[in-house]
Amino acid sequence: MRTTSQHEIPIAQPLITDEEKRRVLDVLESGQLAAGRRVAEFEQAFSAYVGAAHGIGTSSGTTALIVALQAAGVGPGTAVITSPFSFGATASAILHCGARPVFADIDPRTYNLDPQAASDALARTPGARALLPVHLYGLPCQMDALLQLARAHDAIVVEDAAQAHGAVFGGRRVGTFGAAGAFSFYPSKNLTTGEGGMIVTDRAALADRARVLVNCGQRAQYVYEELGYNYRMTEIAGALGCAQLAHLDARNARRRRNADRLRAGLSGLEWLTLPFEPPGCVHVYHQFTVRVPRVRDRLARHLADLGIGTRVYYPQPIYASPLYRRLGYGDTHCPEAERAAREVLSIPVHPALHEAELDRIIEAIRRFDARG
Ligand SMILES: Cc1ncc(COP(=O)(O)O)c(C=O)c1O
Repeated sequence: MRTTSQHEIPIAQPLITDEEKRRVLDVLESGQLAAGRRVAEFEQAFSAYVGAAHGIGTSSGTTALIVALQAAGVGPGTAVITSPFSFGATASAILHCGARPVFADIDPRTYNLDPQAASDALARTPGARALLPVHLYGLPCQMDALLQLARAHDAIVVEDAAQAHGAVFGGRRVGTFGAAGAFSFYPSKNLTTGEGGMIVTDRAALADRARVLVNCGQRAQYVYEELGYNYRMTEIAGALGCAQLAHLDARNARRRRNADRLRAGLSGLEWLTLPFEPPGCVHVYHQFTVRVPRVRDRLARHLADLGIGTRVYYPQPIYASPLYRRLGYGDTHCPEAERAAREVLSIPVHPALHEAELDRIIEAIRRFDARG
């Protein structure tokens, strides 16, 4: 039951400025609603921002992943090592390519694919030829270890960077380490186009194939070179993306400042583990996720009663869903992913938060009786 008359603090809140609204209206008035010059401009600007040579706009992060994997050569017979502690699209994209996800456990401190677990999975899986690491919550994976592993096994790397726009590992932005990276621009993300996504890559041939796949298999109009899809980005999304990109660094910096404040305010609570940022990584705090053994759900209810939105990303590993049970993953167990699913809670960190709201969140958590 709600015990407060204070306003709700949502877990996510898209920020859309008047300038961004004006750019969308311009598109509506232009008559050019399907992909045109604004999508091309956004592809160019976003890929340049992350440091990749090519960008291909898509209808979502899910479709970006499917096409990135397929254009990188993942198909029937390929086993792809990935994290079970992610949004379902990470694994369903592999299935959509006719390939097979192989789940390897996560590092309990970062919640990202554990390079040692990935190595074990590669070694024991015949046909394992690809890695799909996920930069979860905006924190880069240990890309040096994962790339080394990929080289040793002659495996392709595609990055699921859906939650990590602008995040940096070893001085480089994520999405640029593997053969390709896939981003999502869903409304809760650090950069949104409503729905939308992008594939980024340095490989001209991969980019070319991705562009054909996204556009119904056509290079020239009505000439179908392969079995493609309509996964194109709309011009409205392209215009919004260009405008949002101008704010990305400032909004990421704001997320990091909010995270610093939460971190300082919540330090010293022995029942709660704060997010970890390994050396050499710049976390962009798509989520600020704490670990709360035993009393996670009670803390979430306590915060809801005080008007503070929280979410569990994710309440179970992907392989525990009915689809994966039916596909024969009943024996898969990743103990760290399962433990994280029981213990994690994401609290608001988005750039629309005011100082007073951050203080309210901190005070509400500090007041929680974890022993009760
Ligand atoms: C890790 C991850 N991968 C893939 C996706 C899929 O992106 P979209 O929702 O844009 O299809 C998401 C988005 O929620 C995500 O968080």
